Amino acid sequence: MTDHAVRHGPPVVELAGVTKEYPGGVTALRGVDLTVLSGELLAIVGPSGSGKSTLLHVVGTLDRPTSGRVAIAGHDVAALSDRALSALRSRHVGFVFQSFHLVPGLSARANVAEGLLYSGLPRAERGRRAERALARVGLGDRMDHRPHELSGGQKQRVAIARAVAGEPDLLLADEPTGALDTASGRSVMELLHELNEDGATIAVITHDQEIAAALPRRVRIRDGEVVADARNPEAGAAGTEAG
Ligand SMILES: Nc1ncnc2c1ncn2[C@@H]1O[C@H](COP(=O)(O)OP(=O)(O)OP(=O)(O)O)[C@@H](O)[C@H]1O
Ligand SMILES: [Mg+2]
Repeated sequence: MTDHAVRHGPPVVELAGVTKEYPGGVTALRGVDLTVLSGELLAIVGPSGSGKSTLLHVVGTLDRPTSGRVAIAGHDVAALSDRALSALRSRHVGFVFQSFHLVPGLSARANVAEGLLYSGLPRAERGRRAERALARVGLGDRMDHRPHELSGGQKQRVAIARAVAGEPDLLLADEPTGALDTASGRSVMELLHELNEDGATIAVITHDQEIAAALPRRVRIRDGEVVADARNPEAGAAGTEAG
């Protein structure tokens, strides 16, 4: 058994022949095949307009494909009603966006706890988990700060805490460092590396070549197609198998 197979678990994401056509005639994805195994940390790279965010939306079940198969944590998306799909999403997927998407008037704790609203957990337990997640991302001393009282890097840490508080099978990040200065961006990437070492499966869209090069796997998209998929023995602890 290869080291790669030992380190990684079963598929969390399985895409086969996925296409996405937007109304108005844009074909944003053309026959994408992509498997992400539990425990992987991968970069999704490619030029502007190549379909990266579309891919992330389809993988995160925010959007359904026009054709092809999408399975998340073994669940076939096509078989699910919209309601069942949002339940699947809230249980299995966490999202992080370039612009943080925090609720302005709420404390860091309340923002993170909000991400657990549909978990079925009682309010007090949601609060405790939010505090644990904030401590995990290094913001134990900023629980009561509201977004405008936090730096950009701290806001992104709150967003990451919110995304991981429910222990999703998959963390999806669309340009998480895009709005940050170099130092804050680096520390956000370090956090993602740490979460991956603790077992999180993470896909990160990035324009930053340096960030991409430091990740164990890079999937390159061009014109809606996967044109390269490389594993990097040197990057991170995982991924010692080529292809
Ligand atoms: N909701 C939509 N309706 C119609 N066309 C869309 C929609 N969203 C994206 N597109 C088109 O689909 C293509 C892929 O867009 P997408 O946002 O996935 O690109 P991207 O790789 O994330 O680009 P960027 O790096 O600029 O964020 C683009 O040509 C875009 O114009
Ligand atoms: Mg995009």
